[in-house]
Amino acid sequence: MTKTSNQMWGGRFVAGPDAIMEAINASIGFDKRMARQDIEGSRAHAAMLAAQGILTNNDAETIREGLLTVLSEIEGGTFEFSTALEDIHMNVEARLKEIIGEPAGRLHTARSRNDQVATDFRLWVRDQMDAAIAGIEGLMRAFLGQAEAGAEWVMPGFTHLQTAQPVTWGHHMMAYVEMLSRDLSRFKDARARMNECPLGSAALAGTSFPIDRHATAAALGFDRPTANSLDGVSDRDFALEFLACSSICAMHLSRFAEELVIWSSAQFRFVRMSDRWSTGSSIMPQKRNPDAAELIRAKIGRIFGANVALMMVMKGLALTYSKDMQEDKEQVFDAADNLMLALAAMTGMVGDMTANRETMAKAAGAGFSTATDLADWLVRALGLPFRDAHHVTGTLVAKAEAKGCDLPDLSLAEMQAVHEGITEEVFGVLGVENSVRSRMSYGGTSPHRVKEQIARWKDVLK
Ligand code: ARG
Repeated sequence: MTKTSNQMWGGRFVAGPDAIMEAINASIGFDKRMARQDIEGSRAHAAMLAAQGILTNNDAETIREGLLTVLSEIEGGTFEFSTALEDIHMNVEARLKEIIGEPAGRLHTARSRNDQVATDFRLWVRDQMDAAIAGIEGLMRAFLGQAEAGAEWVMPGFTHLQTAQPVTWGHHMMAYVEMLSRDLSRFKDARARMNECPLGSAALAGTSFPIDRHATAAALGFDRPTANSLDGVSDRDFALEFLACSSICAMHLSRFAEELVIWSSAQFRFVRMSDRWSTGSSIMPQKRNPDAAELIRAKIGRIFGANVALMMVMKGLALTYSKDMQEDKEQVFDAADNLMLALAAMTGMVGDMTANRETMAKAAGAGFSTATDLADWLVRALGLPFRDAHHVTGTLVAKAEAKGCDLPDLSLAEMQAVHEGITEEVFGVLGVENSVRSRMSYGGTSPHRVKEQIARWKDVLK
C-alpha cells in the first residue's frame, strides 16, 4: 500500500512517510491522554475567533459542538486513533472534519500545533498539580490522625539509626506533616507560576490575526497570557517544576516507606500494617511483607529519573520549538501516575497502621536513651560544665553496659562512686516519660508542644 501524504501538512509532499518515520514521529500513543485538554483549548480558541470576527458565529458554534462530539467518542472509547495522523491535535481535527466538514479547516486559524501543544500540556500538568495538592493534603491528614492518637506515646528517636533520645510518636508523625507541607507549598508556588496561557503564540512569532489572548487565557482558567511568543511555545519549565516538586515529595514518601519497612519487621515491631496493606509469602507462611512501602520507596527512582530525563531533553535546545520537546510527555505522565499512586497508597497505609505502644515504650528506654537527660541533670543540679557532665555520664553508661543493665537500674551508690554529688533525685530524669515531657523547647518532643502543633495544623487543613 502506498501511503499518501499527510492531509494536514502534506501539500508539498508527494509520498507518505516511511513506516519507521511514522513510528518515531507519532505521539498519539501517549498524547491521547491530553484529548480533553486539547478539545477544551480548541473550543476556547474557536469562541475567541468568533468574538473577534475572525470566524462566523455559525462556524464557531459548529466547530464547538463538533468538538464535543469528538470528545464523547474519545471518552466513550469508540474513537479510532490513527498513527498516520501523528498526534492528538491532528487526530481530533481530522475527526472534526469528518463530522462537520468544511468549517473544521477554519479552526486552525491564528494557531499552530506549537502553541496548541504547549497549552494542552500546561492544562494537563495543572490538573496534576491540583491532584498532587489534594493528595498531599489527604496524607497530611492521615499523619495528623496518627499524631493525635499517639501524641504522648514514647518511642526511641534515632540518629544513624542508633537509639538517640526518647521522642513521642506524635512528634515523629508531625515531622512528616512538616515535610509534606513544604511539598504542598512547592506545588502551589509552581502552579501559580505556570498559570499563564501560551495559546496565541502561534508557531513562534505570534499572529497577524486580531486575536484576543486575554480572552482565551481567561476562558481556560489561566491568570494571563504568556508575554513572549517565542518563550510561550518553547517553555517547558512548568513540566520540569512539576517533576522537581514530585521528586522531592517522592523522596519524602520514600523515607517514611523505609521507616515502615524497618518498623514492621519482626526485630522492631513498632507498627503493624493492616492486612489491606500487607502481602504474604508463597513459601513462608509467617511472612507479612510491606510490599507497598517498598514500592513507594522505589518510586522516587522513576520520578526523579523523569526529572533528569526531561532536563536532558531541554538542555541546549535552541529557541523555539523542536521535536525533541515531544519527549516531555511520557516522562511527566509516568511520574504523575506514580506520584498519585504512591500518595494514595501511603495515605491508606498511614491511616490503617497500628502503632505498638508497649514495644515502642520498651525500646524507648533501652540503649541508654536518657543519657543526655542525665548529663543535663548534672549540669542543672550540680552545676557541672556540660563537657564534664558528658564525661561522667559516659562513665556511668560504660558501667551499666558492663553490668548488662540500663541507666535507671544502677544503684545510687554505684552512681556516687562515679560522682559523689549525685542524689536520689537523678532517677526522676532517667524515665523516658519524664525525658520527653522535659523537652519543652519550641519544636521539641514534649506532648505539650506536639499537641500545639497538631492543633495548628488541624486548623490549617480544616
Ligand atoms: N506532537 C507534537 C508534540 O508533542 C505537537 C507539536 C508539533 N509541532 C510541530 N512543529 N511539529 O510536541
